[in-house]
Amino acid sequence: MDVTASAQDMFDRGLAAVKGAVSGAAVELQPFMAGFVRLCSDGWLQGWHECNGGNLTYRMTADDVKACRPFFSEKPGEWVGMDVKVANVGGSFFATTAAGSFMRNVQLDVAGNVGIVEVNGAGDAWRTVWGFKDGGRPTSEFPSHLMTHGVRMEATGGASRVLYHAHPDNVIALTKVVPLDARSLTRALWKAATECIMVLPMGVGVVPCMVPGGPELARATSELMKTYDAVVWAQHGLFCSGPDFDATFGLMHSIDKAAHIHGLALAMNGGSADFANTISDDDLRAIAESLGLKANEAFLD
Ligand code: 13P
Ligand code: ZN
Repeated sequence: MDVTASAQDMFDRGLAAVKGAVSGAAVELQPFMAGFVRLCSDGWLQGWHECNGGNLTYRMTADDVKACRPFFSEKPGEWVGMDVKVANVGGSFFATTAAGSFMRNVQLDVAGNVGIVEVNGAGDAWRTVWGFKDGGRPTSEFPSHLMTHGVRMEATGGASRVLYHAHPDNVIALTKVVPLDARSLTRALWKAATECIMVLPMGVGVVPCMVPGGPELARATSELMKTYDAVVWAQHGLFCSGPDFDATFGLMHSIDKAAHIHGLALAMNGGSADFANTISDDDLRAIAESLGLKANEAFLD
């Protein structure tokens, strides 16, 4: 037996294990990753993430990338081409949940359920630089996320960084009873509670029932995201964008709560939407104006 070779092998393996543990912890300790993981857990606690339902992506800042770069794999993954091309996010890095991962497991094993991917300069391919340690890949909704990141980045002057997809029960149920147009859905939400228009002055967009993870859904969503920061996916869930994790989670939460109240009121009223009392359009205008917000006039009478 070659004792020297064996000792060297043990040393190399030990060093690799320590490097792995340190690198995982170091990325996990970054403030953006702490926020990312917290959102996944909070969404799970809300009941929005059965099985692998829902996904989350974050467009990293230059400082995030700088802080994480020492922990990126020495040998990044192979470039993987995409059916979509999003030129204005070319060269960006994204933290993304893994396709098929369960939101409830993210907090237990970040490097196994989340990855950091680099998008190539042309914006039509990605490669893994950290995480996906069990061989994962970005969420199946990555085309929707990437196209929408491109659109929201443009629409917000670069402020938008977080995209969050969930399966909130009340929103899905709402798409079964309210006509599937942005005006009808928005009015049902706005009139459910006074706070709704405050977080949603433009209202929500809506796409009809479509195949999850497909390029049609990606195109339809990103087109609507030029106008709205939240888009309802009929019979499926909700897609929300925001500048940070709190704002994006808050938007998802507020929309789901408004949908819940609308459903409760319908049930209390024998299924009729002809309520004894509601919020008038003038009240809605006044609420928005009190915060200096411009409500979407197209959705007001
Ligand atoms: P992923 O597991 O690929 O993220 O898909 C979950 C989902 O909700 C698809 O719409
Ligand atoms: Zn989904």
